[in-house]
Amino acid sequence: MGRKTQENIAEGIRRLFAPFGGVELELPTRDLPREPRDFSGTDEKAADSCATMASANRNLGILLSGRGSNFEAIAGNIASGALNAKIAVVISNRSDAPGIESARRRGLNALVIPSKGKVREEHDRAVVAALREHQVDLICLAGYMRLLSPWFVQQFPNRILNIHPSLLPAFPGLEAQKQAFDYGVKVSGCTVHFVDENLDHGAILVQKVVPVLDSDNEHSLAARILEQEHIAYSEAIGIVLEGNYSIDGRRVVMAK
Ligand code: GRF
Repeated sequence: MGRKTQENIAEGIRRLFAPFGGVELELPTRDLPREPRDFSGTDEKAADSCATMASANRNLGILLSGRGSNFEAIAGNIASGALNAKIAVVISNRSDAPGIESARRRGLNALVIPSKGKVREEHDRAVVAALREHQVDLICLAGYMRLLSPWFVQQFPNRILNIHPSLLPAFPGLEAQKQAFDYGVKVSGCTVHFVDENLDHGAILVQKVVPVLDSDNEHSLAARILEQEHIAYSEAIGIVLEGNYSIDGRRVVMAK
């Protein structure tokens, strides 16, 4: 927000309170952030300005089943101040997920709610109860290898995000990087999208394109896509938490 706009808003507020004895307002000493932040590295300027933003309604619930590198990237961006959010809870359906161990090391609330042998809705009810208990505002699926039941999705409309390692709608489902490599596409990438009741399907928030090189194999391609995932997820979370968007059919449109 520019200085002029801040002054205009302050002047409006002063006038509003004038009949009640007035109000003292101190403007911040520098402009507030407006441009999307850079999540490709430590952004100290963003870290500095984040302190001025509201901290309400920014509780994340992370669901994971494995390695947890996307969770790590999100946690790192929060720690550096590049992403203004709080991880309220990390939940894994697998006790052996390395991601849940890193969550514990970071001192976060880390829960294992085993899914093995449970009926899907029964497990989902336990997960939703834990998310509510931790007052989660936005759920981030980060390598969560469980389909959510329609009931789960309906509990948090447009409040569940997923990351998928291809440019959706191409190559949904498992081993997306291998699918793309085997198909012979020249570009692939990753997609962060809202979760709806169908697999890898909801409205798209952020996509990053990664070229497929002649020298690639499926693993080198997957590694370069993962680098972009780590940038894209925090970017998408930032968009949702800031709330400057609308959803028009399948299109997520940024407010002007
Ligand atoms: C990522 O490739 C993500 O796109 C997919 O599952 C993988 C999880 O990786 N949904 P990590 O556990 O975050 O490292």
